[in-house]
Amino acid sequence: MTQHDLLEVRDLYKYFPIHQSILDMLRRKPPNYVKAVDGVSFSLARGEVLAIVGESGCGKTTIARTLIGLEEQTDGEILFQGECVGAQERRLRAGLAPLESAGTVGTREHLALPRIALKRLRQQAQMIFQDPYESLNPRSTIFEIVAEPLVVHGLSRSRGERAARVKKALEDAGLRPAEDFSMRYPHELSGGQRQRVVIAGAMVLQPELLIADEPVSMLDVSIRAEILNLLNDLRRQSGVSIVFITHDLGTVGFFADRLAVMYLGRIVESGPVKEVVANPSHPYTKALLSVVPVPNPRLRRERVILQGETPNAADVPNGCRFHPRCPVVMEKCKETDPEYKTVGDGHQAACWLI
Ligand SMILES: Nc1ncnc2c1ncn2[C@@H]1O[C@H](COP(=O)(O)OP(=O)(O)OP(=O)(O)O)[C@@H](O)[C@H]1O
Ligand code: SF4
Ligand SMILES: [Mg+2]
Repeated sequence: MTQHDLLEVRDLYKYFPIHQSILDMLRRKPPNYVKAVDGVSFSLARGEVLAIVGESGCGKTTIARTLIGLEEQTDGEILFQGECVGAQERRLRAGLAPLESAGTVGTREHLALPRIALKRLRQQAQMIFQDPYESLNPRSTIFEIVAEPLVVHGLSRSRGERAARVKKALEDAGLRPAEDFSMRYPHELSGGQRQRVVIAGAMVLQPELLIADEPVSMLDVSIRAEILNLLNDLRRQSGVSIVFITHDLGTVGFFADRLAVMYLGRIVESGPVKEVVANPSHPYTKALLSVVPVPNPRLRRERVILQGETPNAADVPNGCRFHPRCPVVMEKCKETDPEYKTVGDGHQAACWLI
């Protein structure tokens, strides 16, 4: 972790146990797991936008939920502003010694550290969900919705201060003048306006990190660009870092700095967006990019349509997990998992062909 990193994720695992029948238990069948996140590492600098891309079920939302503390990781470490959150908390609860990465180990003050880190994370890392209809309480006014995080975190000293912060957050999110929206209810707004309210509710806390999980996929195509532009403006104005989750590689060039391509719980390729898009190394990235529409016919790539079964996180293939669908699979891919290799400046991929 460098001094400028806001977030560092080290070897993160999230397995969900699969319910066993009584017969399976009697037969002492070993428990099976959905390996939603299966060894993921990445870091995020201040003000940086990292796009996480991959098809449905590859583990994107599970990473987001684990980062924000809605799920507890099975293993691995999450460092926010240099302090360990999550695993550390679990170790302490289990009476184990704190991990070395939390800083100086062994003093009573350091036992209190992870709890402080978790509290700070809840305030300084905010999540924007896919569905603006579900994320808003239908019985609250827009003012109450955006003011709620300030109340929960005890962050406004007076009513006047709270009103001023809510007004600024609404107007920064493009709901101007704020007075026209404050006393309305979510059902009185359009889908795009609702997503702006969600964004205002996240930004009112002046977070360091926004985790946006498919923030435009439920919106009308005509307003998607507006919301992405808004996120880009907010990042420029406030310096907030963003983890931008999408299954649409076409939108990442919009404002992401770096790209991580996920397949079945793992990052298979990562690097600066421009570099990965211009020189994709992993066959899966190449296949994803081949179906992204490009206006210039000369830049169009040959379409790669992936064959084989849809990946199943409860049955991860041996060797390279992409091998059953890889158009250029070799014998050794079926047996041995490839390690990450560096293919360019900050650009890595895991494939035997590199
Ligand atoms: N609470 C849970 N219990 C059991 N399995 C789960 C749970 N949450 C997610 N999964 C499984 O974990 C895997 C990853 O799911 P996740 O929702 O993280 O994928 P995703 O990449 O966000 O997909 P999508 O693009 O469809 O949103 C899937 O196989 C999913 O069924
Ligand atoms: S390691 Fe083999 S199966 Fe995996 S992506 Fe590379 S070539 Fe394809
Ligand atoms: Mg998801």
